Amino acid sequence: MNQNIINARVTFRNAPIHILEKFTIRNLENAYEQFKHHSGLDECVIIQTCNRIELFGKSKEQDLEKIKRTWASLTGLEQDEVNENIEWVENQEAFHHLLKLTSGLDSMVLGEEQILGQIKNSITTAREIKASGQHLNTLFDKAIRIGTRIRNSSGIGRGGISVGSMAVKLAEENIDELKTKKILLIGTGEVSTLVAKSLQRRGYDFDVTSRTLGRSETFCETMGGIPVKFEEVLSGFDKYDVMFVATTAPYFLVTHERITNAMGKKDHGMMILDLSNPRTVDEKVATIAGVKLMNLDQIAEMVEKNMTARQNKVKTVENIINEEVSVLEASMKRLDAEPLVKDVFKNIDALRAKELQKALQMLDEKDEDKIKIIDELTKAVVESIVSTPMNNIRKASEQGKPDVVELASKLFDYKKQDQTD
Ligand SMILES: NC(=O)c1ccc[n+]([C@@H]2O[C@H](COP(=O)([O-])OP(=O)(O)OC[C@H]3O[C@@H](n4cnc5c(N)ncnc54)[C@H](OP(=O)(O)O)[C@@H]3O)[C@@H](O)[C@H]2O)c1
Repeated sequence: MNQNIINARVTFRNAPIHILEKFTIRNLENAYEQFKHHSGLDECVIIQTCNRIELFGKSKEQDLEKIKRTWASLTGLEQDEVNENIEWVENQEAFHHLLKLTSGLDSMVLGEEQILGQIKNSITTAREIKASGQHLNTLFDKAIRIGTRIRNSSGIGRGGISVGSMAVKLAEENIDELKTKKILLIGTGEVSTLVAKSLQRRGYDFDVTSRTLGRSETFCETMGGIPVKFEEVLSGFDKYDVMFVATTAPYFLVTHERITNAMGKKDHGMMILDLSNPRTVDEKVATIAGVKLMNLDQIAEMVEKNMTARQNKVKTVENIINEEVSVLEASMKRLDAEPLVKDVFKNIDALRAKELQKALQMLDEKDEDKIKIIDELTKAVVESIVSTPMNNIRKASEQGKPDVVELASKLFDYKKQDQTD
């Protein structure tokens, strides 16, 4: 391929939560600027979720060192830490990985739906700010379509397992008589919705809090639970025995001081499940007597134990992905020829239109029906002459023969420009 597609990533598969959160990119717009200007990429897309921070890029010549340096400067990490944690693949392996992402095969909860929405949002943002162009837009559009088809045909996401249900299960496994405990859910976003659904289904009562009471009220109308004021909760954690925390707050809401105060007023223990990344609960609370803190790392372990039904479908999905990767790779290679083909068609059509106008003037033809017939005739002649060589150029590109595309570019006097959508 003329262009390289790369994928650099840090995910829950190779990094625990405390490492993952260090790689989190806080200012995405700035990150796109930096990656495009300092890492040799002329297109890029960033996917950032609680379980992964990934960069897809397109360049003529890839330079991993520049990418790592940019990532380090964006996050303030030491170069060594970046080097140790970043995984790197390119071209076919990058396509393969993207299909695993869109089909849910690389998710912590196999087949979960959230990742597809997150990838759609990532490419939409990249497209809007023109960080991505023809190559990554095509790649992502195709990968999203293929991933959706794989999910529908394999049923990998069926069976009601989610981060939310796993968190509730973890609480059940660690607490006797959970039904008698006072439960609090902090957050009213996507993950909180999954937790609330699971609590509801299993018949638990729970309070819900969010920065604005109105948002908690609306959430509780559909998801169940009792809305409580945020300020009251922050100063009164002692009322609760179990807390699920799922927010995108950029600082600790559940601090050591607040939990120390709460535990001073309680005569029994407390379990806190922090589902956030970056974490919303200060890990130091785990040192307070009577407090049990769990986070996404423990949920990952729980998920592992509960995946047998879905695991059986993994082989089927992998087989489909393997077949789809070569089709996707051919489409991506074909893109190398597209600017040339488009340019040739455009130039030849302009010549055709010019010569047609000359001929019509010489004939002094005014009859619209006759003009239409001559116009279509010229189009058909051009089409039949140009189609075969153009399709052959596309085919050569698909088959990975850039020399043929280069030669054709010379023959048609084509000057390359940067192609964006
Ligand atoms: N989506 C997933 O698949 C997934 C899976 C596992 C873990 N996670 C992690 O779970 C967390 C929540 O994800 P999500 O997808 O549910 O996010 P989301 O839908 O964007 O919801 C974010 C929630 O955080 C609250 N929030 C934001 N800033 C806050 C602040 N400064 N103080 C208090 N509350 C604040 C928001 O409340 P307001 O209404 O007040 O803004 C909202 O309720 C994230 O850390 C994410 O990384 C996500």
